[in-house]
Amino acid sequence: MNVLGIETSCDETAASVVGPSGVRSDVVYTQTIHQEYLGVVPELASRAHADKIVAVARAALDQAGIDRPDAVAATAGPGLIGAVLVGLSFAKSLAMGWDVPFVGVNHLEGHLLSPLLEDPAPTFPFLGLVVSGGHTTLYLARDIGDYETLAMTVDDAAGEAYDKVARVMGLGYPGGPVVDRLAKDGDPTAVPLPRPKTKTGDWSFSGLKTAVRHAVKNQGHAPGPDLAASFQQAVVDVLMRRVLQASRETGVRTFALSGGVAANSQLRADFSAHPDLDVYLPPRSRCTDNGAMIANVGRLRLLRGQRDGMDTSARPSWQPGAR
Ligand code: KG4
Ligand code: ZN
Repeated sequence: MNVLGIETSCDETAASVVGPSGVRSDVVYTQTIHQEYLGVVPELASRAHADKIVAVARAALDQAGIDRPDAVAATAGPGLIGAVLVGLSFAKSLAMGWDVPFVGVNHLEGHLLSPLLEDPAPTFPFLGLVVSGGHTTLYLARDIGDYETLAMTVDDAAGEAYDKVARVMGLGYPGGPVVDRLAKDGDPTAVPLPRPKTKTGDWSFSGLKTAVRHAVKNQGHAPGPDLAASFQQAVVDVLMRRVLQASRETGVRTFALSGGVAANSQLRADFSAHPDLDVYLPPRSRCTDNGAMIANVGRLRLLRGQRDGMDTSARPSWQPGAR
């Protein structure tokens, strides 16, 4: 079964075809219009999706060498509601026109299960950490659709912290890739930064962002490589600490990392090297938003008999696994 997956929940317009032997095409258009605002402007995102979605979907079908998929899947949430609606409405109309099944996919489940597209793939149960611009959540994934939330952020997401720190340091948007690049030449022990902890075992990143601002504005640290590397190490350390605790508590050592921040060099290096975890990482291009992760979940759910109606609506705060 070849499934066309459509993703428009934030600032990537993406489409991909996934079939029995894996990803057949993967087309991602990243909107550049938001750069001057240092963050995603929802209305501009919706309009840019509407402009690009037909060409992106066409390109995904052409690259896969097919005229018509066997089913269509699209992100139905969580995300910016106007942006989600563009891809969702487009995907439903395609499914209706082609008279093929449709499935609405949870964007976070897309990230969480994206390591399943790789070879080797993790097997259930696994610990899955989704670190993106909007979410930082650790799941115990027992099966498709069976996810227990073990920890989440109580304030900023890790990616959001990167974006805000980049702003404080006068770097561009999105912050993750620029801070990552800058940190390569820095000393991660140069600037002492906190490793925030909450009583519940959830994450909190807003204090870290404030500490970086304090380091620049009050302590005179240059907004350069050392500060970038020190911030990055603090993020990696707090993520790692909680994942290791969850692994000890659940007895599960299979660990899958996903979401935009999973493209981060230090995070990839430190998790991959950890002797207590069996780590599965998607390639960098499949960490940030893409259509393949949506087609993948759509396909897995279709194979289990799921079909969604044309009344499927956008769900801006949908939790993965919730009906
Ligand atoms: O998953 P994603 O593409 O979109 C959301 O669903 O949010 O994640 C985007 C986030 C942004 O905050 C961006 O700064 C961050 O991922 N990001 C990175 C890196 N590449 C992207 N963060 C750290 N290091 C990177 N190399
Ligand atoms: Zn995402």
